[in-house]
Amino acid sequence: MAHMNEATSAPKNVVIGVSGGIAAYKACHLVRDFKEHGDNVRVIPTESALSFVGAATFEALSGNPVDTGVFKRVDEVQHVRLGQEADLIVVAPATADLMARVAAGRADDLLAATILVATCPVVLAPAMHTEMWHNLATQHNVEVLRSRGITVLEPAHGRLTGKDTGAGRLPDPEAIAQLARTVLATGPMKQTLAGTRVLISAGGTQENIDPVRFIGNRSSGKQGFALGDIAAQRGAQVTIVAGATAELSVPSGAEVVRVQSTREMKDAMDERAAGADIIVMAAAVADYRPESEATTKLKKGKSDDALSVVRLTENPDILKGLVEKRDAGETHATIVGFAAETDNELENGRAKLKRKGADLLMLNSVAGGNVFGQSTNRGWLLSASGEELEIEDGTKHEVAARIWNAIEKLRA
Ligand code: CTP
Repeated sequence: MAHMNEATSAPKNVVIGVSGGIAAYKACHLVRDFKEHGDNVRVIPTESALSFVGAATFEALSGNPVDTGVFKRVDEVQHVRLGQEADLIVVAPATADLMARVAAGRADDLLAATILVATCPVVLAPAMHTEMWHNLATQHNVEVLRSRGITVLEPAHGRLTGKDTGAGRLPDPEAIAQLARTVLATGPMKQTLAGTRVLISAGGTQENIDPVRFIGNRSSGKQGFALGDIAAQRGAQVTIVAGATAELSVPSGAEVVRVQSTREMKDAMDERAAGADIIVMAAAVADYRPESEATTKLKKGKSDDALSVVRLTENPDILKGLVEKRDAGETHATIVGFAAETDNELENGRAKLKRKGADLLMLNSVAGGNVFGQSTNRGWLLSASGEELEIEDGTKHEVAARIWNAIEKLRA
């Protein structure tokens, strides 16, 4: 996955808790991620986590001592100091047992005691077998923790320990770090989109000229995938129709449908529109395609000039088509568009929102190579009712969280 943790915030005191599951080895990458970001990292494993990864590894990676109990360095009263000084606590992996202990308010080791002291954002990244995750005891604990403002991330789906697959995998360390930083910047993730079906287009479409050449654009798909990631963490059922993108992590539980051309993207979006509650067209869609696609590679210097003059024809407008479906009652979805403008941004954005008929438009300024492929984004959210909200510079996950806040407000 592309590295997306460009520093947008000052260094923080980050406590990384590690409980005893096979995914404990991934915590090493998480420690690295925060260290590279410039943060001061203190690792607090549970006793059983040390059966998976040695204290020496965590000490060397974090540059700080590692203890599991409250009776080491008693003169420093570590749990109180660590809990009070922490700006962020991330526990990865968080086992069913760790979550049960935190939900019960226990303080029977250094990690649980530190969490009990802390008033900073706490993010738990669960990892366990599917049955343990779905167990009512675990689900009850998750509910209790979330009701107290603790963010419990949705586990990823995929290969578990052994041969089986299902929900319960620890998400990629980079994805955890990204989500944890988003919590720090925008507040705890709540299940505000539970039961909502979200359809997002992401990335750029490509139009073939011949078997080796295409017309494309600079979209990386990061903003669309970040929208999917935040929606999935807020409990939505997410489908992403993706054109060409950078290598990106699939958001927990999301379905990704790969397409190449604008017409393929249109078919994929149209097919799923009726079943969606919210549709976000974040993709950079190729407005034109070659009139015809050559079946063999075009050669230069040929008398027919086929390569130096590529005749183009206009592509369908996917967003406009979706709005027409909504107006015809074929979908009840809230429809959100994107706009990338290099100049006269607000004026062009307002006109585009009207022309397209979307409920909301996220207007990005792409002047000077801004936005495309970058880790940060900024702009304005324009609503059909005339409200305009400036979205300050932030990571694409932070921007996604703010866009979802606006969509949720609009639908409330
Ligand atoms: N869009 C679409 N189908 C197209 C072109 C754009 O669905 N054929 C969608 C984009 O996904 C985005 C919005 O329309 O949500 C605006 O895209 P943008 O490229 O900014 O606008 P265009 O309509 O292409 O206008 P222009 O290029 O003239 O600015």
